[in-house]
Amino acid sequence: MNRPSLAGMRVLLGVSGGIAAYKACELVRRLRDAGADVRVVLTENAARFVTPLTFQALSGQPVRSGLWDDSAEASMGHLELAHWAQHVLIAPASADLIARLAHGLADDLLATLCLASTAPLSIAPAMNVRMWAHAATQANVATLRQRGATFLGPADGPMAENESGPGRLLEPHQIVAELAALQGPRPLAGKRVLVSAGPTFEDIDPVRFIGNRSSGRMGFAVAEAAAQAGAEVTLVAGPVSLATPAGVARVDVRSARQMREAVLAQAPRHDVFVSAAAVGDFRPEAVAPQKLKKSGGGGLELALVQNPDILAEVAALPQRPFVVGFAAETENVEDYARAKLERKKLDLIAANRVGADCGFERDDNALLLLWPGGREELAQADKRALARALVARIAERSAQARA
Ligand code: C5P
Repeated sequence: MNRPSLAGMRVLLGVSGGIAAYKACELVRRLRDAGADVRVVLTENAARFVTPLTFQALSGQPVRSGLWDDSAEASMGHLELAHWAQHVLIAPASADLIARLAHGLADDLLATLCLASTAPLSIAPAMNVRMWAHAATQANVATLRQRGATFLGPADGPMAENESGPGRLLEPHQIVAELAALQGPRPLAGKRVLVSAGPTFEDIDPVRFIGNRSSGRMGFAVAEAAAQAGAEVTLVAGPVSLATPAGVARVDVRSARQMREAVLAQAPRHDVFVSAAAVGDFRPEAVAPQKLKKSGGGGLELALVQNPDILAEVAALPQRPFVVGFAAETENVEDYARAKLERKKLDLIAANRVGADCGFERDDNALLLLWPGGREELAQADKRALARALVARIAERSAQARA
């Protein structure tokens, strides 16, 4: 069997209290053998079983356990540490920690990091068989799974307390193998991917603007999936309040013209451009310097001018990346999207129907992919799963285009 590889992956290993904590020492060594860069965070109870010094020696990095450690905060703040992580692995995870994570508590450093991180979360539980089987624990596990966490184990077998059953920590080599398998292929390793996401806001006066209902979730999910596929990702984001996916460089913009400037500055050094932003088609001809006033009972006429088409401009660059557009349509989805693919000279277009019941402001979506001479439907799924499927197709088609 091939040795599992986690080459270059930044893994935050959280260790909670329990007799299995000693196995986390070997886990650190195996994670490092597989090429991962490991930082360890202990809960207060874990530090009763194994000293921070042991983990420090094994990981070659400072080990943290408290939120209130001034010197550790000064060298790398806890939010920075949460952002640093490309994967959060909890092993062993106690029933208490699983409960705290399921409820979104942030009452110690490890729980706070889990809440602040957008990296995938894997949990290897270790507890007494009756604690694992308890309805409360099972409900917490179900909640975390629903939110996308992956459970590694527990294994079934004899326990420290002369009992037997599911609840044992997986062996460290199994945890590493499962983690490596979860990573799957990294088809965009070595590639640079530029993604635009979110709406644009076009100012009318200092307090009003024209915007749209794009939440940015699809574009952020594409950026995250591309980073997980190994790409170096730049995300140009319109005004949204979403957390930056792990390992992604973000440029914030507000208007279509700012987005155009940022995208055109970045596009030449990228291999792929995914235009997921809902760029406003029109902007007011002029921005009023002061708040516009109501006058009598009269209306207001706003003169609008068209915004530049960023996607078409990128597709027209002499050294263009592989160009992927989105088409949000309320009717005739396939016809309109194919016309757009041809008119804007795209390599691929992802079309979806939008309206009151689908598309914007939702967690799930369905996509129809069209490219010159082909089509594929990606069935309704949550936006992160859909983004992973889309990124896999982009990797395939862009590799073919280069060949
Ligand atoms: O023509 P339409 O707006 O439907 O095209 C949608 C696609 O074009 C999306 O990928 C969107 O990001 C991009 N677009 C753009 N600049 C515009 C309008 C749309 O890049 N001004």
